[in-house]
Amino acid sequence: MSTQASGTIAVFGGTGKQGGSVVDALLSRGAQVRALVRDPGSDRARALAGRGVELARVEIGDAASLSAGLEDVDAFFFMTTPEGHTLADIDGETRQGIALVDAAVTATVPHVVFSSVGGAERDSGVPHFESKRRVEEHLQRSGLRATIVRPVAFMDNFAFMGPNVEIGEIVLRWPLPDHIPLQLVAVRDIGQISASLLLGTAQAPGGTIEIAGDSRTGGEIAAAFGEHLGLPARYEGLPLQVLADNPDSQAMFRWFAETPAYQADLEAVRTIEPSTWDLPTWLRTTGWAPNH
Ligand SMILES: NC(=O)c1ccc[n+]([C@@H]2O[C@H](COP(=O)([O-])OP(=O)(O)OC[C@H]3O[C@@H](n4cnc5c(N)ncnc54)[C@H](OP(=O)(O)O)[C@@H]3O)[C@@H](O)[C@H]2O)c1
Repeated sequence: MSTQASGTIAVFGGTGKQGGSVVDALLSRGAQVRALVRDPGSDRARALAGRGVELARVEIGDAASLSAGLEDVDAFFFMTTPEGHTLADIDGETRQGIALVDAAVTATVPHVVFSSVGGAERDSGVPHFESKRRVEEHLQRSGLRATIVRPVAFMDNFAFMGPNVEIGEIVLRWPLPDHIPLQLVAVRDIGQISASLLLGTAQAPGGTIEIAGDSRTGGEIAAAFGEHLGLPARYEGLPLQVLADNPDSQAMFRWFAETPAYQADLEAVRTIEPSTWDLPTWLRTTGWAPNH
């Protein structure tokens, strides 16, 4: 590691949603970004390169490629993903995170920001939360200066889990009872907050922060969509059995119903990012429209 600041921030997952939002926020603030990618020839990686992002080719199973990708950076953002959500994928998520932490140790990265998930530290029992908790613990034991951001449910999920319009009415059906509030965050804000932490313009007290921009029951979520489209809206809570073929998601929705599940302090989040989006802002800014 050089002892002088290089001005470069490394990002893992820059071709995806969270990492992509971190890249967007860093570039908008004039930072130099190096994206650690598995395929520099992919359309998304090439699009990053076209915006001035340096690409470093990495393989999770190749420790030398990971530490080389982290040489001489000032800070490093990473997220982990189980991709297919099978139990084997979920174990793989922990291995992915541990490999990235170990590489940051080898490269003596001055500050590492890990995006985990809200509630990872609260014994949720949700398999793809527990996999992230194991990464958090490895990071916290690593000796690195670390900040853990814990995002709640993404508003961006509504791009594929959103309501339908049925005979002129918005109808949202989720496996969650209607009276339960669920905290929500725009992926854009994961990027904004992580960029502030990476660039040192904000700190998370105690080294962790759960992040959300809104909190709504199913009925209140449906109402926001209704107001957005100028239509009446209705929410229907579905039984958890609709997720019987996906035990990981079923465990998560069961945990959501054990209120309070996510516990972000929205005011504390706004001290880092005052313009954090609520759901109406996300709907308006993304121009959400129904698929059918
Ligand atoms: N959805 C929610 O409400 C929510 C809430 C909190 C937390 N989370 C967590 O967020 C995570 C997903 O984040 P996301 O939405 O940003 O994911 P995403 O959009 O699917 O992006 C995944 C990124 O990781 C990269 N990647 C995956 N495996 C890789 C490997 N072996 N080597 C190199 N790069 C690799 C992908 O690269 P390629 O472009 O090469 O594929 C891509 O850039 C999950 O762990 C989920 O549990 C989700």
